[in-house]
Amino acid sequence: MRTISTDLDRALTLLQGGELVAIPTETVYGLAADARQPDAVAKIFALKGRPADHPVIVHIAGKDQLQDWARDIPDTAWRLAEAFWPGSLTLILHRQPGVSDAVTGGQDTVGLRAPAHPLTHALLERFQGGLAAPSANQFGHVSPTTAAHVYSEFGDRVPLILDGGPCQVGVESTIVGLTGDTPSLLRPGGVPREAIEDLLGLRLEHHEKPSTAQVRVSGLLDSHYAPRTPLLTGPLAAIAVEAARRGDAGERVAVLHHSPTHKLAGSSEDHAMPGEPEAYARDLYATLRDFDGGRFDVLLLETPPQSAAWLAVNDRVKRATSQWLG
Ligand code: TXA
Ligand code: MG
Repeated sequence: MRTISTDLDRALTLLQGGELVAIPTETVYGLAADARQPDAVAKIFALKGRPADHPVIVHIAGKDQLQDWARDIPDTAWRLAEAFWPGSLTLILHRQPGVSDAVTGGQDTVGLRAPAHPLTHALLERFQGGLAAPSANQFGHVSPTTAAHVYSEFGDRVPLILDGGPCQVGVESTIVGLTGDTPSLLRPGGVPREAIEDLLGLRLEHHEKPSTAQVRVSGLLDSHYAPRTPLLTGPLAAIAVEAARRGDAGERVAVLHHSPTHKLAGSSEDHAMPGEPEAYARDLYATLRDFDGGRFDVLLLETPPQSAAWLAVNDRVKRATSQWLG
């Protein structure tokens, strides 16, 4: 039986039987298990090599299921769900007592999201429950944005990878914490921060470098999105110098830039990234994966623009970067 397929019936049967299924979402692919079966959720952690105290997002069909998982739901949560679900927004809320520690990492909170991908939305409508799913990559690797990426991470160790084509958003969901006094931005992502702030009429608190005392969010570990090939990031002028130096030393250098430029001396390959934030986000992980395949000794990435629309891109680039230039 083929691992990569579009067979919803088989996905449903596997999930109900406590098995794992990789699912497409509009952000990145997830590695899903029935959130009501702790033994099934444990398989996610085993396969990913992820520490068991990291909480996973529970994916639901829509806001009608919010109360199955969360309690004391504030008005802001309803408004955000109404405006952005299905979509790339995860809400952190107080959990219902029945929600397993396997899902919450033992915390009193639960992360909830209704993904917008039509195949997974259809699956969730039929499943009538919640699917616990982190990104479908080995712990610490770049998140997958195609079914083939998932296969390259796990091969046939996932019984089924539902193929929903390439992810249209390409970076993970925005995570908003709603359990404190004021809403906070825990991870920038697919839904722009400003869209949320405009809707709520307030500024989201955002700590770029949370202390370990704060809520544990594994996506906030610095190295979480790292490619294996060293990724050096800096302005184009610094990259030109570095490419020349390393090229002279016989290194195989790839340059990833978004500004128009001629081919840089010393680089073996120059790749033009999109100049616009949504397209850049959509391509980022796939490009890192492609260039991380062993063809190069080093990847040199031009620092993306710093304006607000680029927040999620810059967040992921920062985590993937091993050294800053210039
Ligand atoms: O777009 C996404 O969010 C993708 C797709 C598959 O939905 N999922 C994803 O999952 O990025 P993951 O596990 O790689 O990252 C989810 C983040 C983690 O950093 C996790 O710690 C945090 O959400 N999270 C989940 N539940 C939480 C909770 N109860 N409290 C605080 N953080 C939580
Ligand atoms: Mg992840």
